[in-house]
Amino acid sequence: MVTSVKQAPDLSDVAFATWQDIIEDRLGLQVPEQRRSFLKTCLSMRMREVGFSDYLSYFNYVSTGDAGLSEWNSLIDRLTVQETRFFRDPAAYALVRDHLKRRSKESERPLSLWSVGCSSGEETYSLAMLTSDILNRTEETPRLRFGVIGTDVSRKALEQASAGVYGRRRLELVDDRLEQRYFDISDNKYQVVQTIRDRVCFVRLNLLELARSPLRNLDLIYCQNVLIYFRKWRRKDIVTELASRLAPGGMLVLGLGEMGNWSHPDLTRVPGERALAYLKRK
Ligand SMILES: C[S@@+](CC[C@H](N)C(=O)[O-])C[C@H]1O[C@@H](n2cnc3c(N)ncnc32)[C@H](O)[C@@H]1O
Repeated sequence: MVTSVKQAPDLSDVAFATWQDIIEDRLGLQVPEQRRSFLKTCLSMRMREVGFSDYLSYFNYVSTGDAGLSEWNSLIDRLTVQETRFFRDPAAYALVRDHLKRRSKESERPLSLWSVGCSSGEETYSLAMLTSDILNRTEETPRLRFGVIGTDVSRKALEQASAGVYGRRRLELVDDRLEQRYFDISDNKYQVVQTIRDRVCFVRLNLLELARSPLRNLDLIYCQNVLIYFRKWRRKDIVTELASRLAPGGMLVLGLGEMGNWSHPDLTRVPGERALAYLKRK
């Protein structure tokens, strides 16, 4: 890794600005000066693989034609931060649990959940496991069904998500009971059980094209650790659009500190300092 950085060609100010623009334009992601060397490493490693020696020629290749589009799709997997874990934010999942318990008693239709920027699927499956656990314990609603959709812009992350196979480290925050119930273990790999995989689906969606998504009437929208890379005005546009996709009484969960003092006329903040969530008025 260190060798690759050393051997990378210099990233000029012009080339850096050119790449910053396309990344923000196509993905919404800002690449600040502090991440310049990260960008340089990503680009130079990929350039070496596909045979380019300067950043602007590679940029011209990526930004034109079908071959460029396909190359751009591979590059996305490297440019995006995909770090994630099961039940990553315990305080937020505690709110989700309470919300889903209430919702399962009120609702007569299947519960519908959306994990936005789901990366390799841990968040999507965590929501599915939690919902399944609640529905199987609620005697009044034993037949209520549910579905969870995970969306992300990275094809590679979505492929990993669909396979549903993980190393032990990703499960550190899963409690023993859920681990035993919802994972099949073989060769030190943990695969999400089929009954949960049957309730989940993964779809590619760029948040900049959110308006095109048909998803509506959601009981829960969970969007964490994605918006932090976007400009503030874009974050507001995205969460406003997400709010419009909630069913009355549905919950929107964001990452703590991701939205500053944002408010929305149809949403009320769920009290609590440790998680950021809003309920849509009924
Ligand atoms: C750090 S991961 C967050 C994963 C998960 N939500 C969590 O909190 O553990 C950020 C994810 O956002 C996705 N992402 C970045 N820009 C995106 C965009 N414009 N549209 C959709 N997904 C995007 C990345 O591909 C990545 O998988």
